Order: sequence, then structure tokens, then C-alpha cells
Amino acid sequence: MKIYITRKLPSDVLCRIEKSGLQLTYNDSDILPERSEFIRNCQEVDLLLNVGMAQLDADFMQACSNLKGIALASVGYDHVDLEAAAKYGISVSNTPGVLSKTTAETAFLLMLATARKAFFRAEEVKKGKWKGFGFLHELGVEIGGKTLGIFGLGRIGIQMARMSKAAFGMDILYHNRNRNLKAEEEIGAIYVSYEELLERSDVLSVHTNLSPETMYKFDEDSFSRMKPNSIFINTSRGKVHRESDLIKALKSGEIWGAGLDVTDPEPMRADNPLLQMPNVCVLPHIGSATIETRTAMAQMAADNLLAIYRGEKMPQEIRL
Ligand code: DGY
Repeated sequence: MKIYITRKLPSDVLCRIEKSGLQLTYNDSDILPERSEFIRNCQEVDLLLNVGMAQLDADFMQACSNLKGIALASVGYDHVDLEAAAKYGISVSNTPGVLSKTTAETAFLLMLATARKAFFRAEEVKKGKWKGFGFLHELGVEIGGKTLGIFGLGRIGIQMARMSKAAFGMDILYHNRNRNLKAEEEIGAIYVSYEELLERSDVLSVHTNLSPETMYKFDEDSFSRMKPNSIFINTSRGKVHRESDLIKALKSGEIWGAGLDVTDPEPMRADNPLLQMPNVCVLPHIGSATIETRTAMAQMAADNLLAIYRGEKMPQEIRL
């Protein structure tokens, strides 16, 4: 069987794949080839290890119906047309669980950094604009004892809630499609309606996947219901909030600040007004970007494809 790996992988994971006997086409780079070359490469193999967010849409599935399995090195699969994959008998897997703690750590980092305007203040130092002690200059807000609202209390959301409760004694509210009774018992999380989540949270952290139901969920109306001293954090997907509405809400003071690891589009343009706001912290989609987690994600993706090679089902196959 032949496999195509679309971007650089940790060397120990690559070695394992090489030793397995699979015939390897490997893009030893962080840059994806053009779509036409990408598709040509996929047409020549049985298995695809897809690193990154290349659109695996219906056209792709039709063109690459030769594929037996696609392993995503990501937990998110909003860039994949699963129905089209199923139509051509291509199974698709992702990497749930291994990145939850790391991604929650990124949300936690953004919560603190935003509350203290840390990126802006660090920029002042770098640009020589630190004018000495400023008693009332660009003050932050406190996090301790405040209320954290989690939109999507799944694997990542609960890690963020646990850390925030343990570190700052935060009260936890959440909104989900279904109630998470385990989290209610473990950390005293309280289930509330979406409107209540907006109205009561001091920090609102988004941990949902992107779907037709969550696309642009946080819009003008949502932001207008939030507290004027509240902070919006998004480490899920940039399209879960409407960026133009977020900019308006920050400018008009409807909300206090925002911490984003995901934007729409990615990369964010350097002239985006959010980058000039002291109370906004933007990171370049690094939620799971630690050595440990990226290695674990690559291992899990490899495990999935090696299962197909052995004639088994992928352990992390995504079910429609
Ligand atoms: C994921 O795993 O979905 C992360 O966003 C990295 O792409």
C-alpha cells in the first residue's frame, strides 16, 4: 500500500511509518503543494495522512475516490466533506483527546493575557514606549472569583473549566447541546441557556466544533447581550464568531476584551483593527502546538492508517 504525508512530521513517527512497509510519498516541508499537485499525489496512493486544513471537499473526494483512508492530524474536521467521503467508501479519522489539555492551556493563556492587556504592554516595551510607572495606564481586570462561561463543555472545555476553577476559584456556567452531568458533579458546572451564558459570564470561552449550527453563532446580537466588562475567548474556529461584529462590540465597549487563537480568515491580515486594540490578544492558531501534543497527534494519525494497512478499522474513525 502507498501513503502520502502532506507536511513535515516528527522524525520518530515518520520512522515508524517507513519501517511498516508502506510506500511513502512525503512532503518534507511545512508548505502544502498547489491543490492540483496535492490531488495528483493523492490519486497515486491508498492512504492520506493530512496535516493541516487543506479543503477535502466533495470535488476532492470525487477526484481521489481511490483513497481507502484519510487520517487527519487534527481534532477538527470542518474542512472535510464526510458525506462525500462515505459516498466513495473513504474512511476518515481525527485525533480526539490528545490535544485537549494543551488547547485548554492556550485558552487559559489568552484569558490571562487579555485580562492584563499583556500583548499590548509587551509591545510597548519592545517599541520603546514604556514611559515608566503608570498608576492608571492601561489597567487590566481581575479574573479571580469571576464567572467563566464555557460554550461547548466537551473534552477541551472541561479542561479549561477545571484549570480556571482550580487556579482562580471561578464559578463555571456552560451551554451545550446536551447536559454534561459528569462535569456538573465534578466541578459544579451549571447548565444555562445560550442567552444566560452571554448575560452572566465574565469570561466566555468557546470550545465547540464548527458546524452549520455554530457558524457565526457569536454575532452582533450575542455580543450586545454580554457584560461590558466581559472577555471573549475563542480557541475553536474563527468562523464561530463574526469578526466584523466582534470588532464593533469591542470598539463600542459592549464587551471589554477578546483573546483569539483562531480568526477568519487565517492568517489574519496585518492591518486588521483587532491588532491595534490594547484589550485584544491574537495568536496564530497554536492551540495544540507543543512538542508533546503534536507528536501525540502524529502518532495517533499514523496508528489510524497503520490499522487500515493491517486490514483493520481505524480506531478513531469519525462516524457520520
Ligand atoms: C485541531 O486539531 O483541530 C486544531 O485546530 C489544529 O488544527
